[in-house]
Amino acid sequence: MKYSKIIGTGGYLPEKVLTNYDLEKIVDTSHQWIVERTGIHQRHIAASNESSLTMAEEAARVAMAAANISSADIGMIIIATTTPEKIFPSTACLLQQRLGIAGCPAFDLNSTACAGFVYALSIADQFIRQGAVNNALVIGSEVMSRVVDWSDRAVSILFGDGAGAVLLGASDEPGILSTHLHADGTHKDVLFLQNALGKPTGLETELYMQMNGKQLFKLSVNILGQLFDETLAANHLQKSDVDWLVPHQANIRIIEGMAKKLDLPMERVAITLDEQGNTSAASIPLALDKAIRDQRIKRGDMLMLEGFGGGLAWGSALIKY
Ligand code: UT7
Repeated sequence: MKYSKIIGTGGYLPEKVLTNYDLEKIVDTSHQWIVERTGIHQRHIAASNESSLTMAEEAARVAMAAANISSADIGMIIIATTTPEKIFPSTACLLQQRLGIAGCPAFDLNSTACAGFVYALSIADQFIRQGAVNNALVIGSEVMSRVVDWSDRAVSILFGDGAGAVLLGASDEPGILSTHLHADGTHKDVLFLQNALGKPTGLETELYMQMNGKQLFKLSVNILGQLFDETLAANHLQKSDVDWLVPHQANIRIIEGMAKKLDLPMERVAITLDEQGNTSAASIPLALDKAIRDQRIKRGDMLMLEGFGGGLAWGSALIKY
């Protein structure tokens, strides 16, 4: 049986940092409120010459170096992004051109928002398991700073920019054990971002992210608990078999609740939220990359990845690293 194994990871964060104290000067908020309600201290903001493409390229090259493979070895590129470089061609095609590897399939997952990375990982995993692809580059890259209304304190304080990349390679040894994807469009209004194409004529709709934070909070706690049960049951495993939770970084209170559900101490949770905020589809690969790079996550560890976001869409991946 063939598995996809994580053979390299990479991350990229823009140089510019926006602290909660900086935000105090823009909207009516405070460092204390933001830390207490979200766990976020600062976030990175892309420069005007940076984009989901440039950040994806940086992260991809780091992941390729970590895996010690060249671009010619890549058989598929998927980029999860809510903030693509263009509507088309896909950011993945633009990256493919930069990597000089014409031919392999390359596409974006645009609208799975913060669940985008687990969706992309699941798709790449199916291709590798089937034997159609040997190495797949799976990236989450987001410039959230360009789709938030900076005068909306309920949303702007949460998000940041960045990119994370994972290189999957075919292996005979267990890697990704299973992935579980879900969506429920009845919650379409809880979190959304209008675009100019979908804007009904004559209706003034802001092209900024809109969010019902309280409702999203409650929904996420429910769905993620069920998701863990489903993921463990599918693999005939117990909570005690999980070594690390690598969650989407939305709110420290949600993450603490999820760690509790898995009976994991917070030392066993990959956290980047405090330094990076919510980077949407990039948050899981960035958290994974950091914990692998500083050698907290080690080969053989069992990882539970989970993501949720607009759609509502959510999903998990159980991985023997
Ligand atoms: O990637 C997935 C996307 N997002 C999420 O998963 C977000 C999930 N939700 C959350 O993380 C939380 O709901 C928030 C952090 C967004 C909000 O926290 P909350 O504890 O649910 O606060 P709230 O919306 O109930 O607001 C409490 C109070 C309100 O004032 P009143 O009505 O009690 O006087 C808000 O107006 O806090 C006020 N408030 C703020 N105050 C200072 C809202 N935003 C801010 C702010 N600074 N930035």
